[in-house]
Amino acid sequence: MLFLKIPLLAVLLATDDNEDATAFQEEISFKMIHTSSFYNYSWVKIQNSAWLDDLQTHGWDTNSGRIIFLRPWSKGNLRKEEIKELEVFFHGFSIIMPQVIHGYASQWKFKYPFEIQITMGCELHPGGAIGSFYRFAYQGSELLHTQNNSLFPSPNGGTRAQDVYRLFNQNHANKKIVQKILSDTCPRLLLSILDAGKADLQRQVRFLPSDYKATALNFSCTAGLLHCVRSLLHDLVSGHL
Ligand SMILES: *[C@@H]1O[C@H](CO)[C@@H](O)[C@H](O)[C@H]1NC(C)=O
Ligand SMILES: *[C@@H]1O[C@H](CO)[C@@H](O)[C@H](O)[C@H]1NC(C)=O
Ligand SMILES: *[C@@H]1O[C@H](CO)[C@@H](O)[C@H](O)[C@H]1NC(C)=O
Repeated sequence: MLFLKIPLLAVLLATDDNEDATAFQEEISFKMIHTSSFYNYSWVKIQNSAWLDDLQTHGWDTNSGRIIFLRPWSKGNLRKEEIKELEVFFHGFSIIMPQVIHGYASQWKFKYPFEIQITMGCELHPGGAIGSFYRFAYQGSELLHTQNNSLFPSPNGGTRAQDVYRLFNQNHANKKIVQKILSDTCPRLLLSILDAGKADLQRQVRFLPSDYKATALNFSCTAGLLHCVRSLLHDLVSGHL
């Protein structure tokens, strides 16, 4: 659990009702990562996963196209139809995208074997604002990204980014779904899994080794619980305790 970023833990662990859950210093993100590894013209390996900061919350069953909920709270407050919608989107995406990319590989000068990674998600900023992001990368270099919810070719992507952008920008149906996921589904999922996950993570903290607990219970708190939790975790993570 200590691999989580400190602000995320601080928010999850804040129990004091007076403590504003948005009073943290860095953003907390929820991201969905699609990776397709193109070994050759006929062989692609697809992986989809979702992450709350550094903690994996969702996996993906490639055969059934179903989302795997890795935590008891991974569904947040999404309705059944919304989960189905996400599954249909990722399933379609995972079947169609490789075909499109095979088709354009030589034109876009994608050289086998190569990897495509698409990262989309949203982030909660200190103060409570929620932003979204989308990135398309070939071999780790970004070709497309969003700014203010609109898709753009990445400045360092050259003509290849322009070409990929032209094709993606024509697909209005896909753009609409992506926009809905980024602006509506993702923020609701992020907030609701933060809320639902709180209890579970607090339970885990209760089972920390007792010398952690002794120290944890002994720190003096003058600036509010969140501040204390944050400095305690900072000490834990940096090995001072
Ligand atoms: C494609 O790559 C896979 C995995 O490395 C391999 O098993 C398969 O034989 C390859 N197919 C061709 C046509 O090269
Ligand atoms: C982002 O979009 C909003 C609404 O369309 C607009 O008012 C704002 O100026 C845009 N911001 C930037 C940085 O482009
Ligand atoms: C609790 O804090 C006090 C003052 O900082 C320190 O002297 C004491 O050893 C601490 N106790 C434990 C169990 O860490």
